[in-house]
Amino acid sequence: MNLKCPICDLALPTAIATAYCPNGHSFDRAKEGYWNLLPVQHKKSMDPGDNKQMLQARRRFLEAGHYAPLVNHLTQCLPDATSIVDIGCGEGYYARTIGAASGVDISKDGVRMAAKSDAQGIYAVGSAYRLPYQDDTFDGAISVFSPLDWTECCRVLKPGSPVIWVAPLAGHLKELAAMVYDEVRPHSASPPDFGEIGETVTRESLQFTIELAGPELSDLLCMTPYYWSASEQKQAAIAQAPMTQVSVEFEVWSARVPASASSAAASAALSSSSAAASSKASS
Ligand SMILES: C[S@@+](CC[C@H](N)C(=O)[O-])C[C@H]1O[C@@H](n2cnc3c(N)ncnc32)[C@H](O)[C@@H]1O
Ligand SMILES: [Zn+2]
Repeated sequence: MNLKCPICDLALPTAIATAYCPNGHSFDRAKEGYWNLLPVQHKKSMDPGDNKQMLQARRRFLEAGHYAPLVNHLTQCLPDATSIVDIGCGEGYYARTIGAASGVDISKDGVRMAAKSDAQGIYAVGSAYRLPYQDDTFDGAISVFSPLDWTECCRVLKPGSPVIWVAPLAGHLKELAAMVYDEVRPHSASPPDFGEIGETVTRESLQFTIELAGPELSDLLCMTPYYWSASEQKQAAIAQAPMTQVSVEFEVWSARVPASASSAAASAALSSSSAAASSKASS
């Protein structure tokens, strides 16, 4: 796996349990097999990302197969990719189900769960805005309900690679939202700035319904930001709700890294080499 040092951006050989970059920065492989490549100076909080309770709810819900149509769709969108990265992989469901080579997430608890359940994939704690990989490492990427930085994504992918970004459509889980809010406001996610390839990006919807009763509805609630708005009373009512039909509405964005060195990738390379130079100068 072509990991890179998050401090100076140089290659990080990972054949042994402690990796040293050429500048001597060292990183230990966790016993679950993942690498923590999110230095404290790159964190906005001590424990960023989803917490354990949210991750365990997500694990139970996804493993029950409720979003299996999305897995099938992702697989169809990446027919030829042999080395895929899952950006914002959470507890790793999509990465391990589609056989991704690597997953990265800002949540250490998520990455730990992902690594424990997938001996094949290489997982790293890291940010979507400073991916801990060397240039041209992968030939496909997915990002499901997670942030994606297009320039950074282009940097770690080979030219021509497909990228799939999935977000919720306005009606996604509207029945669950109605159990939490008196007035449901449709939500919308802003797509990444695809820059110069924006016009070639395609967008399609994937919609289906699922039937859930109390405990599964509770897990679904816990996976969503609605959880923070649900009073204890509402949480208890949801936990005891009868079988309910829930709309699942995804929007699936498909983009391709430009075939020739794009200005995006070039500027990413430029900024990473100047970051390396300034880090060397200050160390
Ligand atoms: C809604 S969850 C989706 C997780 C997973 N893709 C799934 O669908 O099960 C969003 C994920 O994005 C991660 N995340 C948030 N900000 C991030 C960032 N800057 N870099 C990487 N991951 C991030 C969170 O920790 C969380 O695991
Ligand atoms: Zn280094």
